Amino acid sequence: MEDQTQLKQQPLPPLVKGKYPIGSAFDFIRDSLGFFEEVVPKYGGIFQVRSIFFPFISDFDYMMIVSDPDMVKHIMQDNNKNYVKSHGYNVLKVLLGEGLLTSEGDFWRKQRRLMQPAFHRDRLASFVDTYVEFGQQLVDKWKTLPDGSEVDVSKDFMETTLNIVSKAMFSSDVADAMEVVNREFDYANEQLIKRITSPFPIPLWVPLPHIQKESRSYAAIKNVVADIIEKRRASDQRYDDLLSMLMEVEDADTGEKMSDQQIQDEVITIFLAGHETTAVALTWLVHCLDENPEVEQKLIEEESRVLNGRQPNLEDLHSLEYTRMVIDETLRLYPPAWIIGRHATEEDQLGNYRIPKDSNCLIPVYYIHRDPKLWDRPEEFRPERFSKENSKGRHKFVYFPFGGGPRLCIGNNFALMEMQIIVPMVVRAIKLRKSKGFQFKKEPLITMRPAPHMKMVLTKRG
Ligand code: HEM
Repeated sequence: MEDQTQLKQQPLPPLVKGKYPIGSAFDFIRDSLGFFEEVVPKYGGIFQVRSIFFPFISDFDYMMIVSDPDMVKHIMQDNNKNYVKSHGYNVLKVLLGEGLLTSEGDFWRKQRRLMQPAFHRDRLASFVDTYVEFGQQLVDKWKTLPDGSEVDVSKDFMETTLNIVSKAMFSSDVADAMEVVNREFDYANEQLIKRITSPFPIPLWVPLPHIQKESRSYAAIKNVVADIIEKRRASDQRYDDLLSMLMEVEDADTGEKMSDQQIQDEVITIFLAGHETTAVALTWLVHCLDENPEVEQKLIEEESRVLNGRQPNLEDLHSLEYTRMVIDETLRLYPPAWIIGRHATEEDQLGNYRIPKDSNCLIPVYYIHRDPKLWDRPEEFRPERFSKENSKGRHKFVYFPFGGGPRLCIGNNFALMEMQIIVPMVVRAIKLRKSKGFQFKKEPLITMRPAPHMKMVLTKRG
């Protein structure tokens, strides 16, 4: 009781006054990345933004921006039970249902426990051949083009990572069905972005032509996946893929298995969470190599030393150390999951500040990864920061491209292995440079990606 009273007496975090009378939340929405850079140095590791519209358009009363690593740790790890995912994630339920990314509480905990073994490093070893197969397919596609051709790197990496997640999920017996999913996913992804960034997302039942088109797209994806699950149930063939694992796992205490609806939600979740993020990371990585050719040279040297033109295998991952450092440094400067949101279910305290119940706490991963108080010359691309020696003792929430605490990305090793295989395969075969005069900006939507698509000119090596 005394604690509660003391908490009530704590001040709220400082409020950022906006440039316009409608409140600072507008400045944040207009240019989120620039806003952090301007405001965090003035206000410090925690502050609030406001909008006169909050009471009409949101389910929260306060919006806090939290970039102090200890406070982030408190939210995401130490007191995580007090923080559910922000409202934005609920919007994704139109497609993802109660999959891992969007579910909460005991239901999420049970699902996470069931699914964790499928993403264990040892289990992922069986996907190495898939990473190699589609890495090679991409290189072969680019090799057929004459030097000087322009390629849409964003699109090609997206196709590669989608093919990889499809094969890891369903083996190879569903090529026709996958065509539908691949086509619809592109469209569905764009619609979800619009939905999550809209202050008034229109319900799917509203009979407007574009909403009905969106609704049909989600239905098409769900139907294809439901169909695959049904056929798999009827088959007595054995498969070594994620779907069979999801169908077989049993709760250790109750022996209960997942329902078909639950498998469907998890499959679609893994598709959505598991391909765009990785494709965007690979796109940023080749952009960084274009800007830092000396880093690219070192990557090529490592490839020659470790692989010398042969296909990578599981054991090589330990030796491809510099490649891994380049991936880590890319994810620092360009974290695809650039912001993480949490909603306080009860009142809490961060530092000396009171966090009222129903505060929306936004954690700007992008800014923390570039905070000059935490990083030496943060704007420079220096993979050496991630050598074993230089990484020792780093605070868990100074660098966290995959999140942290119990809701840490379940696919982090999947993505890291995938990239560590594809990167040497690409750099040894192809040099990519941005097209002349190509201009882009960082577009912070669900993921932070280059806009427009990254266009690069290729030259074959060797
Ligand atoms: C570079 C690639 C990736 C990045 C940067 C990334 C980032 C993240 C982050 C930051 C979260 C936590 C979100 C939060 O706490 O609010 C997350 C969750 C998740 N990710 Fe990833 N991810 C990547 C690749 C993948 C892949 C390849 C898969 C699956 C194959 C995947 C599946 C998931 C799932 C299912 C969750 C929800 C986990 C849970 O809440 O239990 N991700 N990801």
